[in-house]
Amino acid sequence: MRSQILSLAATALTLSQLVAGQTSTDCNPLNSTCPSDTALGKTITVDFTQGESSEFSADTGTTMTYGTNGAEFIISSDGTAKTIITNNYIFFGKVSVALRAAKGTGIISSFVMESDDLDEIDWEWLGGNSTMVETNYFGKDNTTSYDRSTSPAVSDPQDTWHIYTIDWTSASITWSIDSVLVRTLYYADALDGANFPQTPMRIKLGNWVGGAADENEGTIEWAGGSSDLTQAPFTMYVKNITIQDYTTNGTSYSYGDMTGSYESIIINNNSTSTNTSYSAGQTVGNNSSSSASSTSSSSNSSSSSSSVAVSSGRSNQPGRVLFELLGLGCAASLFL
Ligand SMILES: *[C@@H]1O[C@H](CO)[C@@H](O)[C@H](O)[C@H]1NC(C)=O
Ligand SMILES: *[C@@H]1O[C@H](CO)[C@@H](O)[C@H](O)[C@H]1NC(C)=O
Ligand SMILES: *[C@@H]1O[C@H](CO)[C@@H](O)[C@H](O)[C@H]1NC(C)=O
Ligand SMILES: *[C@@H]1O[C@H](CO)[C@@H](O)[C@H](O)[C@H]1NC(C)=O
Ligand SMILES: *[C@@H]1O[C@H](CO)[C@@H](O)[C@H](O)[C@H]1NC(C)=O
Ligand SMILES: *[C@@H]1O[C@H](CO)[C@@H](O)[C@H](O)[C@H]1NC(C)=O
Ligand SMILES: *[C@@H]1O[C@H](CO)[C@@H](O)[C@H](O)[C@H]1NC(C)=O
Ligand SMILES: *[C@@H]1O[C@H](CO)[C@@H](O)[C@H](O)[C@H]1NC(C)=O
Ligand SMILES: *[C@@H]1O[C@H](CO)[C@@H](O)[C@H](O)[C@H]1NC(C)=O
Ligand SMILES: *[C@@H]1O[C@H](CO)[C@@H](O)[C@H](O)[C@H]1NC(C)=O
Ligand SMILES: *[C@@H]1O[C@H](CO)[C@@H](O)[C@H](O)[C@H]1NC(C)=O
Repeated sequence: MRSQILSLAATALTLSQLVAGQTSTDCNPLNSTCPSDTALGKTITVDFTQGESSEFSADTGTTMTYGTNGAEFIISSDGTAKTIITNNYIFFGKVSVALRAAKGTGIISSFVMESDDLDEIDWEWLGGNSTMVETNYFGKDNTTSYDRSTSPAVSDPQDTWHIYTIDWTSASITWSIDSVLVRTLYYADALDGANFPQTPMRIKLGNWVGGAADENEGTIEWAGGSSDLTQAPFTMYVKNITIQDYTTNGTSYSYGDMTGSYESIIINNNSTSTNTSYSAGQTVGNNSSSSASSTSSSSNSSSSSSSVAVSSGRSNQPGRVLFELLGLGCAASLFL
């Protein structure tokens, strides 16, 4: 099967719109020298039933409300997406979100982690399907793949609270629902590590209209069909989130070179800097100790600084869309 990229929008534009005001995200460390990323460096729990959190910033155009169900990501009849993003980065870690997905055909709820060089780890819920959730990942902006997503079953994700977890180490990524493992991705299974997400990430929570009339046909199909905004509001709720940065006590993370390899990431604190070889012993997570040896020869996980970024367009959803255009007999990935 041939693969083909249909890039609808510049990734750089997507990021700058998502996090306007945070200049580092305009910068791709694979081909530029970028400002360092502020580190979370610890574990936090945010209880959104208590209201807004200073750990997050709202995307341009996003106005949030908070209630007894926590953060309310409301798609109203104007179709405006709602997205919030953490101010700080984690360098490997575990993130758990108590979430109820939005209803509505074509409405996409999402919990995404993304780095400056466009590694990405996703959970996405289709409003027209109340029996499954999608998992996906990307490495270094490589969107040529057609078979990275999975669709584990979940019971009634729109009306029932479930806790969705991503546990991310240099050795593997696991996706779990209510502590039940539904997917494991090992470093070596992501193109020998080249497509394995491995650079410092922020967490984005959002709700957007994949089935909007002005979306690409393929996106609408992936989203489950056209959205009927006269049925709005469509609300995704996030009650709480726990974020554990497996790298502790760092103050910032920076890219030591342009490989995008986790081994090149420099952990800074106020007194010293060190690279991942040092931190591997402190970066405690399942399989992470074995990862130091099992993946230490992977510094050749090559990056493609030639990856594409094209044109412009709407770009207010947190993640990327990857789907198969069966009708064309090819795979396509879309930036929106
Ligand atoms: C939901 O997704 C699952 C898995 O892809 C599929 O089997 C099911 O038919 C879908 N349900 C609806 C209502 O589209
Ligand atoms: C992107 O990933 C695909 C497999 O998903 C791989 O065949 C291709 O070589 C990768 N491209 C780069 C530039 O690494
Ligand atoms: C988050 O909310 C869920 C759903 O109400 C609850 O089960 C869980 O205990 C909460 N977690 C934290 C850390 O407050
Ligand atoms: C900074 O890192 C050094 C080791 O490189 C460590 O000895 C020191 O305690 C760290 N400082 C803080 C504030 O964590
Ligand atoms: C991180 O900093 C805290 C507070 O200073 C300290 O108690 C803890 O031991 C440090 N942890 C590591 C791994 O350096
Ligand atoms: C690092 O230094 C800055 C500026 O001096 C200070 O605001 C911050 O609290 C320090 N952080 C740590 C972890 O020591
Ligand atoms: C990382 O640190 C180790 C041990 O101090 C050193 O051998 C290695 O050259 C360093 N790598 C980089 C990219 O700085
Ligand atoms: C590691 O795995 C064990 C058992 O599988 C689990 O109890 C523990 O919470 C995990 N630790 C982390 C940091 O995920
Ligand atoms: C840890 O690694 C072992 C073998 O390498 C694997 O069987 C296990 O499932 C892994 N655990 C997680 C949480 O990925
Ligand atoms: C990385 O290097 C090892 C040993 O040098 C080699 O076997 C492997 O094929 C390389 N992987 C990639 C993705 O280039
Ligand atoms: C760096 O890469 C990004 C994404 O591929 C691209 O949009 C940008 O133009 C590149 N910048 C430079 C200076 O090459």
